[in-house]
Amino acid sequence: MGIVDEDVARVRSESDIVAVVTQYTQLRRVGRRFTGLCPFHSEKTPSFSVNFEEGLYHCFGCGVGGDVIKFAMEKEQLDFVGAVESLAHRANITLRYTTADEGSSRRRRSQLQEVVAKAAGWYHHRLLTAEDAGAARSYLRSRGYDGETVRRYQIGWAPDGWDTLARSLKIPDDDLVDSGLGFINRRSRQQDAFRARVLFPIFDAQGAAVGFGGRIMPGHDGPKYKNSSESTVYAKSRLLYGLNWAKTAIVEADEVIVCEGYTDVIGFAVAGLDRAVATCGTALTDEHVKMLRRFAQKVVLAFDADSAGQDAAARFYAWEKEHDIDVAVADLPAGQDPGDLARSDPDRLVAAIEGAKPFLEFRINRVLDDADMSSAEGRAKGAERALSMIREHPDALVRDQYVVSVASRCRLDLNLLRAQLSAGERSQTRARPRSQAVGRAGPHQSPELEALKLLVHRRDEMADLLCGDLFVDPLCAAVYELLLANDGLHDVMVTGGPEVAELVQRLSVDESEAEPMDVAARLWENLVEMEMASSKEMLGHADAATRPHIFRHHTWLRLQLEDIRNPGRQAEVIAELLAWLREGEDEEPSSTTEEGGS
Ligand code: UTP
Ligand code: MN
Repeated sequence: MGIVDEDVARVRSESDIVAVVTQYTQLRRVGRRFTGLCPFHSEKTPSFSVNFEEGLYHCFGCGVGGDVIKFAMEKEQLDFVGAVESLAHRANITLRYTTADEGSSRRRRSQLQEVVAKAAGWYHHRLLTAEDAGAARSYLRSRGYDGETVRRYQIGWAPDGWDTLARSLKIPDDDLVDSGLGFINRRSRQQDAFRARVLFPIFDAQGAAVGFGGRIMPGHDGPKYKNSSESTVYAKSRLLYGLNWAKTAIVEADEVIVCEGYTDVIGFAVAGLDRAVATCGTALTDEHVKMLRRFAQKVVLAFDADSAGQDAAARFYAWEKEHDIDVAVADLPAGQDPGDLARSDPDRLVAAIEGAKPFLEFRINRVLDDADMSSAEGRAKGAERALSMIREHPDALVRDQYVVSVASRCRLDLNLLRAQLSAGERSQTRARPRSQAVGRAGPHQSPELEALKLLVHRRDEMADLLCGDLFVDPLCAAVYELLLANDGLHDVMVTGGPEVAELVQRLSVDESEAEPMDVAARLWENLVEMEMASSKEMLGHADAATRPHIFRHHTWLRLQLEDIRNPGRQAEVIAELLAWLREGEDEEPSSTTEEGGS
């Protein structure tokens, strides 16, 4: 573990501390020292000073100080070994490691990174100069990317050939495969991973090239983006595009903007917001968040958070709690991504970030904006929807503040609304055992999966027969919501995370032979059975006054069950049950029992 002491000492003495520091602030020579504005705090007159001979820095303003290794650790957010390695690389020093094993895997990694870096350089050069890159150059120009932008992001062009890169750079087979730059095809020949695509090189947080996002040219067939495959150097769950450039600005603002695409990151920077990063074709993971937390406390999500829905809410709240961050949602105009907005209306993009709201506030605003606030019924309905979102928040104090604000906006009595909030909480916990009962069967042979397949392949016939309550398996439920909220499967996969993406992929290639009505009927049958079980249980605890209501409800359910099993009646019953569920949502929970009789 670690680097041989001697080599650490060499790095310390041979590193050019002035050169390292001037990456972050300008230094001026004053006698035997260098001074400048402190890169660790903001100031107008220089109180930061570097002693070149001793290799030390100190700020008389904020008190920071240390040697070149400490500087690299602080400023580049590296651990000790990482800082020494990065400095050794600059100073052309070969390090020896104390544990042979770790040393060799680190060595292999840096070898591979070097191969990727070389490839990035080659692709970039190709874009700037090659004849076959003319169309790519005009495409980028048409998107408003000038030469400076192309150079800053080292954008490249992968030519339309089988092995042009591998051959030109004479990359050995194992390097080609291990770096993800290519593979060995069935005829044992080298083949490039990227072909006829505009390439956005992806760097790790320290600025080492590790992979690519490759965009297809407009008018060509195939997925819009193809990203590097997972490898020793490229792990998408730990990579954030743009972090290498943005980290200083992120620390300074104590805020990071998270968007979805390479072009969004670039758009933000063009609009003057240089603290944006993007995931590389995945949803934001816990690991990403942990990483970002080292740089900033506030995370502003700059993508369509409407479609993120309830599942995402739970994840965001968990992060806020676990990692002590604040998650806010940018106020983007519907249907526009930051990359496009940066061109069409950069001021609006800046305003979207400035007007970012906490996730719960954002969701409640959406609901109340959509509600009919001119009628008592509309306001009550809006408040009920808002309450169901507020209930998902884990913090009672936060919940109560939102209840206060909803009460005033919907002109409802605050105490009534508070009571309603806790009434709903009780009914939610009551509903849970029912989920577990069916969940045991697992999603694999379940009608839930059949239903999702049909929803993917025959949406028109299936969508109207379903509702969220039918999906008991949490993954199926999530996929159902995402399918409804998104137009394309791709969006579902990007927003849903790896588990969702995997399932959706499976669904999309596997068609169901079943009839939509049959599958829906089976799901409804399960639901009604569960409801009957719970109403039976309630009957046991109910007092004399409510027993008749529950009993009537139970009877009604039983009749529905008969009808669902009768093919001629299925459509009608499903419509009736859907209406019943919808009413139940808008009503106070205890009154659902009465509708059963009607
Ligand atoms: P978008 O479809 O929003 O593309 O995908 P974009 O970033 O706006 O790109 P332009 O502006 O049309 O060029 C967002 C991100 O989702 C991933 C990529 O990481 C992309 O940046 N993605 C998208 C894929 O991985 N594969 C795809 O086929 C599409
Ligand atoms: Mn875009």
